[in-house]
Amino acid sequence: MTTDALTIFKENQKKSWGLFAPIEIFTTIPAASLVNFSGAKSGQKLLDVGCGTGVVAITAARLGAHVSALDLSPALIERAQENADIAEVKVNFQEGDVESLPYADGSFDVVLSQFGHMFAPRPEVAIKEMLRVLKPAGTIAFSTWPPDLYVGRLFSLVAKYSPAPEWVSPPTLWGDPNFIRQQLGNLVENLTFDQGTMLFTALSFGHYRKSVESTIGPVVKLLQEAKDNPEKLNQFRKELEKLACNYFIDNHFKQHFLMSRAFKK
Ligand SMILES: C[S@@+](CC[C@H](N)C(=O)[O-])C[C@H]1O[C@@H](n2cnc3c(N)ncnc32)[C@H](O)[C@@H]1O
Repeated sequence: MTTDALTIFKENQKKSWGLFAPIEIFTTIPAASLVNFSGAKSGQKLLDVGCGTGVVAITAARLGAHVSALDLSPALIERAQENADIAEVKVNFQEGDVESLPYADGSFDVVLSQFGHMFAPRPEVAIKEMLRVLKPAGTIAFSTWPPDLYVGRLFSLVAKYSPAPEWVSPPTLWGDPNFIRQQLGNLVENLTFDQGTMLFTALSFGHYRKSVESTIGPVVKLLQEAKDNPEKLNQFRKELEKLACNYFIDNHFKQHFLMSRAFKK
């Protein structure tokens, strides 16, 4: 992998995630689940990576934590600042990359990521950075999508039609406890897992498809790539409907996710 290939990949990520804001209504409740699971407390210094529109950061700031938050997408950072203003909390939002965090070693008591760091292409680089900026005995906690449940299966389907370069790690590896154990290794202790649930509501499958096609980074990218290839697009849509119909019940998808927490040694 060349530096150019990495830069192009990150630029694409930045653009394709920039439309994610409407999904914040679904990630708001999981944000409270992650903050509670992390045990974050008032007065602690906390970092939210891949913060999107700030749902985790703002939840933690409302608890009284001193929060910094970072995301690749400037459009989402702008929306996150608006959210913090509405909530009347202070958060230091910053555009940036989890693979190269702009903070000194040992800056934070708690480092969190909700469905964020899992999209960095090099897991070992992202986790090294997250642990670097964490104080000894500090808490790292994150929420991720398991490969065998609905959202994981959706990402695999998208990858079939819009394959990432071979050096990019599939994001749903972060939904596997064994992979997490391997990545955190002996740098942490007391690794603990729990399950959270997200409800994604939609009035019909058509509403759901329209929503994911216009907001979820990897799906947005696939739609861009397939815009002159109606056959490919139709085939993807058929497969998406076949997969989704197993999970779409009573106007919603009930999507379980994995929460992981550990303490830095
Ligand atoms: C599924 S969204 C989650 C957003 C937010 N945490 C939430 O729960 O609503 C994934 C987020 O990760 C961000 N992201 C992807 N790769 C990143 C990277 N390398 N560094 C920082 N943020 C990244 C995207 O821009 C996007 O905002």
